[in-house]
Amino acid sequence: MDTRRNFIKKSAILCAALSLPLPAGGQAAHRELKTRNPKRGLVVCYSQSGFTRRYGKLISCILREKGLMADLADIRSFDTKRLTDYDLILIGSPVFYYDIPSNVSDWLAATPKITGTPVAAFVSFGGPEGNQHNALCHTLRLLTDKEGIAVGMEAFRSVPAYPTPTWDSANQRSGEHLPNEATYEQVRRFTSQILAQISRGEAIRYEAELALREFLRMLPLVWLNKKAISKHMVDGSKCIACGTCVKMCPVAAIHPEKQFVDRDKCLACFGCLNNCPANAVIMEYRGKHLYGFPEYLRRKKLNILEPAEFRNCSL
Ligand SMILES: Cc1cc2nc3c(=O)[nH]c(=O)nc-3n(C[C@H](O)[C@H](O)[C@H](O)COP(=O)(O)O)c2cc1C
Ligand code: SF4
Ligand code: SF4
Repeated sequence: MDTRRNFIKKSAILCAALSLPLPAGGQAAHRELKTRNPKRGLVVCYSQSGFTRRYGKLISCILREKGLMADLADIRSFDTKRLTDYDLILIGSPVFYYDIPSNVSDWLAATPKITGTPVAAFVSFGGPEGNQHNALCHTLRLLTDKEGIAVGMEAFRSVPAYPTPTWDSANQRSGEHLPNEATYEQVRRFTSQILAQISRGEAIRYEAELALREFLRMLPLVWLNKKAISKHMVDGSKCIACGTCVKMCPVAAIHPEKQFVDRDKCLACFGCLNNCPANAVIMEYRGKHLYGFPEYLRRKKLNILEPAEFRNCSL
């Protein structure tokens, strides 16, 4: 007999199947790949605590080892018009609030057409129940809307860089050793698979899945979280005016010179808190003081493993 929890879960999924179109589904496009032998690859990442960028850098290094010209770019500063210069494009994003963040989807929606260009998506994520598959489908759908051809998708797990007052959930502890060598092997395999897929001239099929976490994605989670953030400002006495938070903020919401955060614009991504080198970004969650990712690593005495390829890769 079903437990009460399973019954509720199944009913919710059934309701979704009957009433909701999946927002992130997609099919392989029936278009020709513009090349089976790409020469210029581009990896564009959005990354707040460095994991997605690390995976993106490894992909770029491997592409270079394989003889391609490969660039690594940050979504916050890359001019979308330049996308058409490339014949292989990979987009990397963290999963935030059960989806790719809205600044990434907005960026993708504003790109020019990339007809026939092989495209792939990867995400980094912090928990097995994080809706990473649908976040990948969402990214690919936006890329294939621009007439790119999907050739790969993959999710790489890492430390959940989500600041909590204690940073001590079971999920946090189970991911604190990541990425490890197995994660980097997964990145290497993914890169090779993409190139093999392109050389065969084949697109991949991708299909969003109907899961309970898809409902979580539909909740106004950013808004709810912002309500719970009871304080968010810059401490002028600690700020060293390095500009890091301004560079990291995807929506220009933080103004350290005025010690001010525009709470309406803010996406509650914690990029400012997680990157301030002077602990000058003050955030409280339901009245409890939050500390950022570097402080978490320091307190836990954790070091992030870097892949061997980085020793000889100048990106
Ligand atoms: C604001 C925020 C929301 C997050 N939401 C999710 C989530 O819904 N699912 C998940 O698996 N991980 C979630 N995470 C964890 C991140 O996806 C994970 O730490 C990721 O590797 C961070 O990538 P980055 O270092 O490139 O920013 C969240 C982290 C933050 C900071
Ligand atoms: S101000 Fe808001 S949107 Fe900007 S980095 Fe900080 S948390 Fe993210
Ligand atoms: S990152 Fe920290 S120290 Fe640097 S400008 Fe922002 S608040 Fe000031």
